[in-house]
Amino acid sequence: MDPQDRSTILVVDDELGPRESLRMILEPLHRVIQARSGVEALERLRSDSVDLVTLDLNMPGMKGDEVMRAVRTEFPQVEVIIITGCGTLASATDGIRFGICDYLEKPFDVVQVSAAVARALERRQARTRLTCFLEELGQVVGRDRDARALLHDVQRSQKLRGRLGGLLQDRTTASPVQAEAQGEAVRSIEFLEVLAETIETKDRFMRGHARRVAVYSSLLADRLSLSTREHEQVRIAAFLHDLGKVGVPTDLLLRAGALEPGERAIVEEHPAIGARLVEPLDIAPAIRQAIRHHHEWWDGSGYPDGLAAEEIPLAGRVISIADAFDAMSCDRPYRRALSRSVVIGELTRFAGVQFDPHLTKEFLAVLESGVCDVELVADALVTASPVFPSLNR
Ligand SMILES: [Fe+2]
Ligand SMILES: [Fe+2]
Repeated sequence: MDPQDRSTILVVDDELGPRESLRMILEPLHRVIQARSGVEALERLRSDSVDLVTLDLNMPGMKGDEVMRAVRTEFPQVEVIIITGCGTLASATDGIRFGICDYLEKPFDVVQVSAAVARALERRQARTRLTCFLEELGQVVGRDRDARALLHDVQRSQKLRGRLGGLLQDRTTASPVQAEAQGEAVRSIEFLEVLAETIETKDRFMRGHARRVAVYSSLLADRLSLSTREHEQVRIAAFLHDLGKVGVPTDLLLRAGALEPGERAIVEEHPAIGARLVEPLDIAPAIRQAIRHHHEWWDGSGYPDGLAAEEIPLAGRVISIADAFDAMSCDRPYRRALSRSVVIGELTRFAGVQFDPHLTKEFLAVLESGVCDVELVADALVTASPVFPSLNR
């Protein structure tokens, strides 16, 4: 749905002229309601569901900055665009001090107003998605004390803070400059990147797994001549494929012995949890699907949905091979890393059973084709950045 669809905008101005011009500009796309004072504005906000407020700073009675503060406190999810007389707002830093998203100076024109409103509504939508994600994550993580401690560390991590700016602390005070320089969607993905790596610290055997699987998947995607967009989706999904392990108790991940059927079922929830986690975020549905289906088997005996053959999304089939290759090539709690010849033997043996036979052949060709020391490539890339150069939907 277009983010501008059916949004309700409250226009607050004591003067009829600017109120009416804003109404005429905005009404074709939005539901517009009006208030003539700060007090009336707060009443409307309490009785109506409002997405965005345009607020004149110079009004008799309750001053604009008082209204601003009241809106911020009582309705933190509502976006605000300040309308000022020429030069009233000395600088962008004044705006940041007020905690506003954007401001327009009178006299404004249609283009400026439309652009500011579109930006504000997009921000609101991105923030809603991110809030849903964090709530969902909180619920998932709530199952596991280790993961809760981990999340605590994530929130305190300097690396994460560096990437996210103030996103986790107080998202309402992000400056318009920051918001424009780095889209919320990209920041969400970067957050996931750090989260995925942090989750690996739960399982010492899987350190670097996400990044290596992303590299192997990428090499296979190259070989398959996927489009740039598909290639990037494969790589992002590969990086995030085990994100749902945040919901799996650490002792199950590290168990050297066999798992009970009930415990196995919990571990096997991770693809669905991962897919559910990224659902509220602004990322391509293909990425979500690939995360959900990375443990499906070609013969239909995998999980979570028992899809078979080409029912399994291509990115899921690619990741499945890269994932198995990495898992077999590394030490696991219950066995040492397997030799390359054994790994190739296993991939061949399970082609057409667990793995897409055509893709397996192509992956074996990648292994043979001079990129034979594929781990070295992966190691070199482990330090390279960024994993997500851009975000294609
Ligand atoms: Fe997995
Ligand atoms: Fe994995």
